[in-house]
Amino acid sequence: MPLKHALITGGSRGIGLSIAQLLARNNYACTLISRSSSMSSLHAALSSLSIPSSSSTQTENPHAVLRGDIASQNFWTQDTFKAMKERTKRFDVVVNCAGITQAKLFARMDESEIREIVDTNLTAMMIGTRFLLRNRWLQSSSPSSRRDKQKGQEDESADKGGEEGRTHTPVIVNIASLMGVSGGFGAVAYAASKAGVLGFTRALATEMGGNGGVRVNAVVPGYVETDMTRSSEDFLLFVVICKAYDKLRCKEGTAPRLTTRTPFEFSTDLNRSELLRRIPLGRFAKPEEIASAALFLAQNEYAHNCIINLDGGISAL
Ligand SMILES: NC(=O)c1ccc[n+]([C@@H]2O[C@H](COP(=O)([O-])OP(=O)(O)OC[C@H]3O[C@@H](n4cnc5c(N)ncnc54)[C@H](OP(=O)(O)O)[C@@H]3O)[C@@H](O)[C@H]2O)c1
Repeated sequence: MPLKHALITGGSRGIGLSIAQLLARNNYACTLISRSSSMSSLHAALSSLSIPSSSSTQTENPHAVLRGDIASQNFWTQDTFKAMKERTKRFDVVVNCAGITQAKLFARMDESEIREIVDTNLTAMMIGTRFLLRNRWLQSSSPSSRRDKQKGQEDESADKGGEEGRTHTPVIVNIASLMGVSGGFGAVAYAASKAGVLGFTRALATEMGGNGGVRVNAVVPGYVETDMTRSSEDFLLFVVICKAYDKLRCKEGTAPRLTTRTPFEFSTDLNRSELLRRIPLGRFAKPEEIASAALFLAQNEYAHNCIINLDGGISAL
């Protein structure tokens, strides 16, 4: 089986790393992208990937890292990807997974905070995907689809099609979020960005489908055990303290509420134990469970505009 190539944004930890680990076990050479403040954390992620059995060079690691901020103007450039050309001419799978969360009431957010979330979670996904399409990092090996589907795209690089002479339908897997569908307390900008990811997925699928085109899909996780949900816990604590404070002050009839929400609305807050009670399966997902959906979308040649909900049933409520 020939080695395939995957590019995973946010591949240094959490869901992205789990996806990379599973892809590596399934014969993909993975390139991980993250800002990682130290190269050592990216290299630790790299060394956790198994070496695909069909790797041509047993001595050289087929996996790679690209360190950088996907939301930066200078990231999606030929310069960043120059060294990649030694390894591959195109990607079979692109997983757009990098993301940042929000744990702040909307009215308290600075404009820069709103922009950072939307730029990272949505705009960078679109700019990055456009770069990969324009520069033929994502292209079908079918000559007809290359002619038809890439008409109008800027050819900023030499033609790299036809590698290994195999049929090849690349796939994009975008990681959205349940909050993009149902909203979430303290997560207005995040929810808006993730709703955008779903809109982007569906609209791009209409442009990229057809015989031999690029498949475009998304996973919609609910709550997953990663650094992201752990970091929200400070906010959960803040909400709990506000609730206790409001209850006390209301009883005394003295001060205005810290929040404007009613006690009923608070019952839907992101309190972890409440959340666990509300999730029909009674637990957060493991990152590996999200990874298996990404692998399914990568491998199932009929998956196009396929949006997989993986939320333990919470969206049914
Ligand atoms: N955890 C959940 O419950 C959950 C639920 C639904 C959806 N999701 C989505 O799943 C994706 C992964 O989440 P996770 O829980 O695995 O989060 P995580 O553990 O915090 O990992 C986030 C990853 O994204 C990278 N990243 C963030 N900003 C970046 C930037 N500007 N440029 C490059 N890399 C960047 C991080 O690396 P650096 O910090 O080193 O850059 C890290 O590799 C996100 O899109 C998230 O919104 C998560």
